[in-house]
Amino acid sequence: MFDRTMSDETLNRLFRTARTAHGFLSDPLPEGTVGKLFELAQWGPTAFNALPARFVLIQSREAKERLVPSLSPGNLAQTLAAPLTVIVAYDLEFYEYLPRLYPAYDARKLYVGNPQLAEQVAFRNGTLQGAYLMLAARALGLDVGPMSGFNAEKLNQEFFPDGRWKANFLVNVGVADPASFYPRGPRLAFEEGAVLL
Ligand SMILES: Cc1cc2nc3c(=O)[nH]c(=O)nc-3n(C[C@H](O)[C@H](O)[C@H](O)COP(=O)(O)O)c2cc1C
Repeated sequence: MFDRTMSDETLNRLFRTARTAHGFLSDPLPEGTVGKLFELAQWGPTAFNALPARFVLIQSREAKERLVPSLSPGNLAQTLAAPLTVIVAYDLEFYEYLPRLYPAYDARKLYVGNPQLAEQVAFRNGTLQGAYLMLAARALGLDVGPMSGFNAEKLNQEFFPDGRWKANFLVNVGVADPASFYPRGPRLAFEEGAVLL
């Protein structure tokens, strides 16, 4: 079969040598970065193409200050240093877009009146979209620092007071300060993390 594998350099930059950033250099993001991140992340697969993630792209100092009270102390300095912090949220009423996003089938009816299922689907697929956004950032030559250390209730109250969107996790984006890397953790061996049937 024709081998369509990307170069080792690409695989290394997306996965093997990419590191989680815990500090950032003061380089500003290249013009147009937030638009490119959003656009690339939108192409990843989601159930019924529902695209339930919502991204709050925090670049301004004022918006950063609104985020600060929700952060765990250990996440404060890295977030203040990052030129961009993304709140990866999900929309509890994502299904309202389904007639446009998935015209082949009336999937909206599965979720209207079933908030428990809607939230499960929004969370699962919104999480995937957060991962697509992180890989998109790496593909653009940037580094990411995902974080779940924050007070979700406080953050939701500040940014999503009407309750329709909910925070999932945060991602700092920028050029990593290599001094900020923690020691690299090992990964599981194939036999520990996978079963081939
Ligand atoms: C969903 C998620 C939540 C995380 N939460 C935090 C956090 O609150 N604070 C932090 O400093 N690192 C956090 N991390 C970073 C992880 O510890 C890090 O990505 C992991 O150890 C792998 O590091 P490496 O990419 O350098 O190998 C989080 C990562 C993910 C994916």
